[in-house]
Parts: sequence; structure tokens; C-alpha cells
Amino acid sequence: MPFVNQGAWIPSKGARIEVRHSKTVDPGEGEVLIQNHAWGINPIDGKMQSLGIQLDSYPTMFGCDVAGEVVAVGENVTTLKVGGRVLAHPLGLQSKRECELAFQLYSIVEARWAVPIPADMPYEEAAKLPLGILTATTGLYTSQHRALPLPTLKPTPQDGTLLIWGGSSNVGAAANQLATASGFAVVSTASVANHEMVRKLGVVEMFDHRSPSVVLDLVEHLRRKTVLGAFDAIGTAQTTKTIAEILSQLGGGRITSTLPNVNDLPPTVTGKQIFAPASFLHEPAIGEAVWHNFLPQALQNGQIRSVLKTCIAGRGLESIQTGIDEVSNGVSATKVVVVA
Ligand SMILES: NC(=O)c1ccc[n+]([C@@H]2O[C@H](COP(=O)([O-])OP(=O)(O)OC[C@H]3O[C@@H](n4cnc5c(N)ncnc54)[C@H](OP(=O)(O)O)[C@@H]3O)[C@@H](O)[C@H]2O)c1
Repeated sequence: MPFVNQGAWIPSKGARIEVRHSKTVDPGEGEVLIQNHAWGINPIDGKMQSLGIQLDSYPTMFGCDVAGEVVAVGENVTTLKVGGRVLAHPLGLQSKRECELAFQLYSIVEARWAVPIPADMPYEEAAKLPLGILTATTGLYTSQHRALPLPTLKPTPQDGTLLIWGGSSNVGAAANQLATASGFAVVSTASVANHEMVRKLGVVEMFDHRSPSVVLDLVEHLRRKTVLGAFDAIGTAQTTKTIAEILSQLGGGRITSTLPNVNDLPPTVTGKQIFAPASFLHEPAIGEAVWHNFLPQALQNGQIRSVLKTCIAGRGLESIQTGIDEVSNGVSATKVVVVA
């Protein structure tokens, strides 16, 4: 194998990233090897580093999102070729295979979860997308959550309005676009400064999550509509409580949330937390329908894109620590990426 790999390792829980050698393997059946040109940084990366979430032993690498070039293909890969430009969400955190982790120069990915990107889409733009889209895919389409009609390139209008809380977040922006591509009317929240940006995602009405009258305003707006419940992209105890109050005043409903603060809800409101990789691991037909049948063309025609501002934290694996620190400090309508 001619590829010399390096990874962003942490020697122990809470330790800072150190760049060290990591192994490269040949892609197995149905897999490709990607040379990563950009990495997307997500809030979970900082939580993994500081709290050890999903990390079983040390030293270890982690990471979620990559974009890069296919440099080797395994047997029976028909959809991708060497030289192909892709975005991907490698599944090493679940498979526990080092070669499948994201924060290294080369990562192994199942070909069906690597999505071709348009020729004019820079890698740093593509790396902004995977986990947001994956989380929205699981929350909107799997049978354990919403089981909504799948997104299409020419959506048929559906009867129903979905409240997506946190429309300027990475997950919320993806959920806004996918739910719109399924034909639903989407109502969303963000700080006022980000309303215009979120409206570009197809959202029909925006509300200010900081407004003292946000509950009243949303109840008033949604009262005469068929409300499908809410997708809480932020998932804090406070956002879930606020959403539950709105749904409760509308007669009840379901909250699909990114975090586990879904207990202790009013009697007419239920809640369930998303586990993003579930649409790859447990309901792959859903994962394939969105990632394989819809996303390549939707990226091509601009139906799915990242409108969040891009913050390049630096160049090279060393800069992943800077990126994690920036995301952990909090961002607004911004996606932090690192370029190789
Ligand atoms: N369960 C899973 O599998 C899964 C997967 C992915 C992410 N997550 C979790 O989901 C959460 C969001 O992740 P992300 O990457 O989308 O975050 P992000 O992009 O970093 O979120 C930043 C955005 O959050 C918005 N925000 C903050 N507080 C808000 C509030 N009270 N109401 C509405 N919007 C608010 C801000 O909006 P304004 O600036 O407009 O105020 C900002 O634009 C994180 O906790 C992450 O760990 C879970």
C-alpha cells in the first residue's frame, strides 16, 4: 500500500490532539479508500475528546465528517472510481476499525455512504455537510422516528407543517432542506440576524428563538395548521421544554431531538433522541434512498447545500484541535472545517 497515513490521535481522555502515524489498509469488498482533503468539525467531537463519549480505549482517533478523493476501490464497487470527489461520514466510531475513522489523512468508507460531489464544489464546502444530513435523514425518515415520505428532486406538496427548532445550526439547516424536499411546509427558529439565511433553505416562516413571545407567536401561527410535531436540532433541556410547551398548547405532538433531554414532558407530548448513524446501520434502505438516490443529484442542482458560513480553522491534522476548540466555544450559523 503506497499511502503513508497520519492521524489526529489523543493518548487519553481529555488530552490534546497529537499527529502520529496511523495504519492504512486496502479497501475491502464494497469499500473505498478516501484521501481526505477537508474535515468538518462537529460539537460531538469536543464532547468525545473531553468526556470520552463513544471512545473505548486509548490512544484513539475520532471525527465524523470528511470530503476528499477516492484513491483506491475494493471489489464490487460500481458507483465510484479512483479520482472521484466525494463527501462521506466514515463509520469507524461504530465499527471500531481504526482505518474507518475520520480524522486522518486516509479513511476507509463503504462506497454506498460516499456521495459524489459536484466538480465545482470545494472540498471545504462538502465537508460541512455529512453529519447534519445524516442526523436529519435518521430523524425525518427512519421508522423509529418520523418515517416521512422521502425527499425528491421535484417535491410534491404534502399536507403538514413541521417545526424545526434551530434552523441556523448545522443539523437544523439540513433538516430544513430535507423536509422541504419531502414537500412539507417548514417553520423554523433562529436569531433574527440569521433569518434571511435560513429562509433560503425553503423555510416558509421564521421565528426568533430569543423572543420572550416565541411560544405565543408559534402557537398562534401553527394553530390552524396540520402540525406534524417538532424536530429539535438543538436539544437542550430549555429548547425541548419550550417546544413541548408549544406542542402542548396545540393539543400535543412528538419531538424528535438531537439530545437526550426528552423525558419529563407534558402528558400529550412525546420525545425521542436521534442516533444519527441509525439510517446507515439499522435502516440502510433509508440511508441508501437519501444518500445514494437523492443526494448526488440534489447537490448537483443546489437543492441541498450548506448555507452556513465557512470558518477554516487551519490547514493540516494539527489544526483539528483549533477547530474543535472553536466549535466548543460556540458558533452562530457557521461551520468550522479544517483543510488538509
Ligand atoms: N443525536 C445525534 O446523533 C446528533 C448528531 C449531530 C448533532 N447532534 C447534536 O446536535 C446539536 C446541534 O449540533 P449542530 O452541529 O447542528 O450545532 P451547531 O451548528 O454548532 O449549532 C449552532 C447554532 O445553534 C443555534 N442555537 C443555539 N441555541 C439555540 C436555541 N436556544 N434555539 C435555537 N437555536 C439555537 C445557534 O443559532 P443562532 O446563532 O441563530 O442563535 C447557532 O447557529 C449538538 O448538541 C450536537 O452535539 C446530535
